Amino acid sequence: MFDQVEKVHKELAQVLVANASELEAFRIRFISKKSVITGLFDAFKTVPNDQKKAFGEALNELKKEANTKFKSLAANLQSITTHPSEHPDVSLPSTPFQIGGLHPINIVKNRMIEIFERQGFNVSEGPEMEDDWHNFTALNFPNNHPAREMQDTYFLEKDPDRLLRTHTSTVQIRLMEHGKPPFRSIMPGRVYRNEAISARAHCFFHQVEGLYIDRNVGFKDLKQSIYHFSREFFGKDTQIRFRPSYFPFTEPSAEVDISCFICKGKGCKICKNSGWVEIGGSGMVDPNVLQNCRIDSKEFSGFAFGMGIERIAMLKYEIDDIRLFSENDVRFLRQFNGL
Ligand code: PHE
Repeated sequence: MFDQVEKVHKELAQVLVANASELEAFRIRFISKKSVITGLFDAFKTVPNDQKKAFGEALNELKKEANTKFKSLAANLQSITTHPSEHPDVSLPSTPFQIGGLHPINIVKNRMIEIFERQGFNVSEGPEMEDDWHNFTALNFPNNHPAREMQDTYFLEKDPDRLLRTHTSTVQIRLMEHGKPPFRSIMPGRVYRNEAISARAHCFFHQVEGLYIDRNVGFKDLKQSIYHFSREFFGKDTQIRFRPSYFPFTEPSAEVDISCFICKGKGCKICKNSGWVEIGGSGMVDPNVLQNCRIDSKEFSGFAFGMGIERIAMLKYEIDDIRLFSENDVRFLRQFNGL
């Protein structure tokens, strides 16, 4: 009986297959219910009791070998058939080359810039690592005032004066400190907040800040600017609404809503049946902020606004999880190719 096992073992070691039907013949001979190995298992009964253990082990070994060999023969055959080496057909179209696309955050950012540029805004940027002055103090956040906790901040361990900016309003200050009015600028960039990550919130996201400072700038100008943007970005019949709010750096302050462009104000899941969705914060620049930047608040006035790019993108493309923007899943990102 052991001789038989040895014979099959040798045969197995030598066998080669060149095509699918030979592979099938291999399967029938060594793997199937009618294989030689199954035959040997049947003969197990006839083996004397004291040899049963060794015989069983040898058979199991043989069976394992046959299965492994079958798998590798099948894999070899596959690689032969899918990569024909002789005479490739050069007239066939080439394999399509996957080119990358813009990230949805950049698509929305670029579109926002485009719209505001047509209103006469230029683009300014500032550093992501900031100091207390630009993120808080110059923006009229009093020392130790609870307003500082409105946006949970990442401070640098070694230097509590250094922090990751919690909003792009920092760039307003940098702009006004280093230039002379008038200013009409939008400031896109990444911001950081110490938030628990969920479908609705992330510890970093992007904003676009807007600032317009000149003589005789009024709330009507803020309204018109936002109205124009909303209609351009979300559609011609978009309505806007301002809700009174509070920011230390603007007075008066208002939250900006647009009419829900999905249900047209009738009420749906996106607008939580209210017919309105929030797109950002805004207000008239507080005279204290102008003074902090050595701008005469009797001569100049202005408005500012800040909008979250993720928020705008989520509304526009009906995305319900903010984490998708930073997970780099190509199945998500690919959907924006060509937009
Ligand atoms: N900086 C505010 C925020 O991040 C938004 C804002 C900008 C509000 C400008 C008013 C004016 O929430």
